[in-house]
Amino acid sequence: MAMAVVVAALTLLTSGFPACSAAGAAAAACDFPSIFNFGDSNSDTGGLSAAFGQAPPPNGETYFHRPAGRYCDGRLLIDFIAEDLRLPHLSAYLDSVGSNFSHGANFATAGSPIRPQNMTLAQSGYSPIALNVQLVEFSDFLARSQYFRSQGGVFPRLLPREEYFSRALYTFDIGQNDLTAGLTQNMTIDQIKAYIPDVTAQFSDAIKKVYAEGGRSFWIHNTGPLGCLIYIMNRYHLEAPEDEHGCLRPFNELAQYFNAKLKEAVDTLRTELPLAAVTYVDVYSVKYNLITQAHQHGDYLSTFTPSFRPNNFSRMGRLIGACHCRISSNM
Ligand SMILES: *[C@@H]1O[C@H](CO)[C@@H](O)[C@H](O)[C@H]1NC(C)=O
Ligand SMILES: *[C@@H]1O[C@H](CO)[C@@H](O)[C@H](O)[C@H]1NC(C)=O
Ligand SMILES: *[C@@H]1O[C@H](CO)[C@@H](O)[C@H](O)[C@H]1NC(C)=O
Ligand SMILES: *[C@@H]1O[C@H](CO)[C@@H](O)[C@H](O)[C@H]1NC(C)=O
Repeated sequence: MAMAVVVAALTLLTSGFPACSAAGAAAAACDFPSIFNFGDSNSDTGGLSAAFGQAPPPNGETYFHRPAGRYCDGRLLIDFIAEDLRLPHLSAYLDSVGSNFSHGANFATAGSPIRPQNMTLAQSGYSPIALNVQLVEFSDFLARSQYFRSQGGVFPRLLPREEYFSRALYTFDIGQNDLTAGLTQNMTIDQIKAYIPDVTAQFSDAIKKVYAEGGRSFWIHNTGPLGCLIYIMNRYHLEAPEDEHGCLRPFNELAQYFNAKLKEAVDTLRTELPLAAVTYVDVYSVKYNLITQAHQHGDYLSTFTPSFRPNNFSRMGRLIGACHCRISSNM
């Protein structure tokens, strides 16, 4: 049962790839030879772990049977996207052990915001590897990978071909931490809304930088239903009003507000970047359906329905924060 839900959700996410059929440098058929990903824990495959220590168990237990750099027990959406495109799982750019970047690289780290937070990881809990830093890493990777490929030896089997950059799928899943950063600082929802235009402006700048470096196919996830996440429920305002599924309305409305602004930014990008195919992906709806209909899909999922609301989020929160881990590990 759980498997069916995930298959449906992923099919929704990955089928069609509208980016494929758009004009421009992307191949007419959906044959992306590489993926370059930018983001936070929703798509981190080892970045934060490489720099700050491995994501601890239960992350990685069920599917990988070892720490796998994911804040997730199973695979993340980005893993399924790679599999769907018949590409290997993405190595984290920061991971110097066992990595293979021949078909792309992952610049995401858990806790990354779009906007730099002006505080250390210890002070804020947010990754210092904000989107601007991920962009610097990408530019550096682009230039240096080609230099080392030209040196021969093992490098051509570890680094992408030059044309893999213009033909790549560029995926983004980031913004959730920009919203929770305001909550951490005890800002009101209105105060957070007031800075969202700055967040989306910095996001647009990042897309333009990748475009300037030759990227043409962009796959942009909106942010998920914050108010359904156990860690939000436990950390902030348990008194906040609930919707009919037990999710906290104000936080979901905040996520939807961000998503509306993100969609506007994507619309503008489409006019500004004529050779690009920019796809806005409604991950919010997919996750909301998965979470709120969990009780229909077997016991494991029921554990994650918001109305369950355990006050012990040390385990639950970690599991549900980045992904629906037990769900994806059923695959
Ligand atoms: C960080 O500091 C700069 C300079 O004061 C400011 O412009 C920026 O908005 C700050 N970022 C955040 C997330 O508060
Ligand atoms: C890296 O991965 C690619 C694709 O899976 C493979 O062809 C290549 O041999 C790998 N490189 C090394 C050094 O194992
Ligand atoms: C936010 O409020 C909590 C609870 O009142 C307090 O412990 C914390 O220090 C506050 N944080 C900031 C950044 O003001
Ligand atoms: C919280 O969950 C952990 C792991 O499942 C468990 O060891 C611990 O006893 C729980 N704490 C409470 C207060 O229920």
